[in-house]
Amino acid sequence: MTGKTEDLSATLANLRGDYRALVQRLEANEREFQRLGRAVFRVEEEERRRLARELHDGLGQNLTALKHRLALLASQLGDSRPDLQPDIDASLALCSQGLADTRELSRLLRPQVLDDLGLEAALDWLARTLGTSGGLAIEIRADGLPALEPDLQTLVFRLAQEALANVTRHAGASQAIVSVRVHAGMLRLTVWDDGPGFDVVAAMEKSRRGESTGLGGMKDRVALYGGHLHLESGDDGTRLAAAVPIPGESGILPP
Ligand SMILES: Nc1ncnc2c1ncn2[C@@H]1O[C@H](COP(=O)(O)OP(=O)(O)OP(=O)(O)O)[C@@H](O)[C@H]1O
Ligand SMILES: [Mg+2]
Repeated sequence: MTGKTEDLSATLANLRGDYRALVQRLEANEREFQRLGRAVFRVEEEERRRLARELHDGLGQNLTALKHRLALLASQLGDSRPDLQPDIDASLALCSQGLADTRELSRLLRPQVLDDLGLEAALDWLARTLGTSGGLAIEIRADGLPALEPDLQTLVFRLAQEALANVTRHAGASQAIVSVRVHAGMLRLTVWDDGPGFDVVAAMEKSRRGESTGLGGMKDRVALYGGHLHLESGDDGTRLAAAVPIPGESGILPP
């Protein structure tokens, strides 16, 4: 080998080394970014949990007490002031509505059932809540799941919550199916609806321009867990599919 060729191979070897080091640094930065992103969501969920409890135990208890006091007052008045009865009835109805709204808001912020009974029960509750208010038939297929870490359960619940909110608000569908299963080390969620469909590319653009947060937020959140999100819409309805690796099962270590 001539001196020039030796120089060239040494330079190439150096370049390859630099390139490898750069790729490793980029991968490390990406992992750190994902870890921080997941930590932000964890803090957000914790704050939602606290607010949900505060609403339920604070405002909720006060409204219950107020309702009981009004009912007591009404019974003490008996038949002596029939002119006050309509106002008392209206006040009791307002208390009941306020109490129901408070409980609903508290559950939507962070459903206790997710922490107490897990993902399948929380999805059943979500389907019941959204189904009764919108006249949409929602089926949940999430039985036989293995034990999943709380972060993943929360992720899937929030994805299903946003996807079903989109179905009720935009799809004009009469039926939706939510399915969660584990296959080949991946946790897979699909949400299908039988609506007439929409322009997915235009909707994603809208999201990228910051005019909506739902679809973009779901995509970002899935990416933080090393997964991917796919959306297709057409004559057969709309299908949102998310796949996320399960730590430990797919060679990826927990954070
Ligand atoms: N299942 C669906 N069926 C029909 N259209 C949908 C469906 N999901 C999303 N879309 C369309 O995609 C758009 C973007 O959805 P995205 O969730 O990002 O925003 P949004 O629901 O309008 O507002 P938000 O930021 O409150 O979620 C919607 O405005 C709607 O036009
Ligand atoms: Mg939305």
